[in-house]
Amino acid sequence: MSQERIDFYRHTLGEPELRNLGAVLDGVFLTSGPRTQEFESRFADYLGVGHAIGMTSCTTAIFLALKALGIGEGDEVIVPAMSFIATANAVIHAGATPIFVDAELETANIDLDQVEAAITPRTKAIIPVHLYGHLVDMRRLRAIADRHGLAIVEDCAHAIESVRDDVKPGQLGDAACFSFYATKNITCGEGGAIATPREDLAEAVRVIRLHGMSKSAYDRYTARYRHYDMPVMGWKANMNDLQAAILLPQLDRIEAQLESRERICQRYQRAFDGLGIDYPRVVAGSRSARHLFTIWVEPELRDDVLQGMQDAAVGVAVNYRPIHLMSYYVERYGFSAGMFPNAEEIGARTITLPLYPAMTDEQVDQVVERFVAVHTGLLDRRSA
Ligand SMILES: Cc1ncc(COP(=O)(O)O)c(C=O)c1O
Repeated sequence: MSQERIDFYRHTLGEPELRNLGAVLDGVFLTSGPRTQEFESRFADYLGVGHAIGMTSCTTAIFLALKALGIGEGDEVIVPAMSFIATANAVIHAGATPIFVDAELETANIDLDQVEAAITPRTKAIIPVHLYGHLVDMRRLRAIADRHGLAIVEDCAHAIESVRDDVKPGQLGDAACFSFYATKNITCGEGGAIATPREDLAEAVRVIRLHGMSKSAYDRYTARYRHYDMPVMGWKANMNDLQAAILLPQLDRIEAQLESRERICQRYQRAFDGLGIDYPRVVAGSRSARHLFTIWVEPELRDDVLQGMQDAAVGVAVNYRPIHLMSYYVERYGFSAGMFPNAEEIGARTITLPLYPAMTDEQVDQVVERFVAVHTGLLDRRSA
């Protein structure tokens, strides 16, 4: 009998987004205009951060945040070895060198105990990644950064709705970078944003996301034509009104969707606690954005479990294999296995399970049931 397929992710886009998109298409303005501005203002309000600037992706947001901070050739930027490649790639795009720090085993986030040992006279910034939606201890990281005169650029690709010690993403960092990629908690297919409490940084990012021009197309459209200047070199990374039209209605239901994902994660946790299967922990008293739910299995069984789950019609992913062991990083920087053991261990054990607001309790139970069947089968085969 064929089993119901349980997708890794399903978006929640529908009527409200279609209506909003229709309204944009009925108008004349498709690029960064009133909708983008409305999204930027509502997103900044949601985060409780002074400024938000719509971008084309989180990768570009990290890159431009580093450029706006004046970081480039000869500089070092501290990044976690356990993250998506984009975090470290953006540092290289900026012309700087990524310096990896290992993960802590409880949360999989960057180990703050190891950050200071990685700081050198060349270090200019730290990029914490709030992995899976679990916030790094930003109060402690801010104190470390301040002691050494470093900037913090938060990678918040997983962490829009997170809170820890009353701190939200973007409130203690110099800049916080968000992703609205296809599987994120709010999405427009591809997109991103920078949030910053710093007026100077917001202004710098607004200019360099649009070629370094002194006027945007919207300024030129709404006012009479005036020549623009290009005072600095910039790039092209501005969010457009079609993206903003899709994102705006999702802000209305962001809390309700988090509640659904929290319910699903609690159900997974109860099941995996009962099975003795480990997973990264949410620190007591903090609120995770619950972007991904990942479990840790025996490293020698992981790839077979991945195959087995897919054979059982369950969408799965690996978040992540450590960045320093990607071929490019090994060849360019000479990294090798054993240098960041916790990130390597997590990378060898992790399997991400389906998680999205519309998942039913029955689907969650089915994922667990199919996991148990696959995992038990592999354990039996190993001991036979
Ligand atoms: C931790 C992390 N950082 C950065 C990114 C890059 O985001 P984007 O695809 O918007 O560039 C992602 C995307 O999946 C991510 O998971």
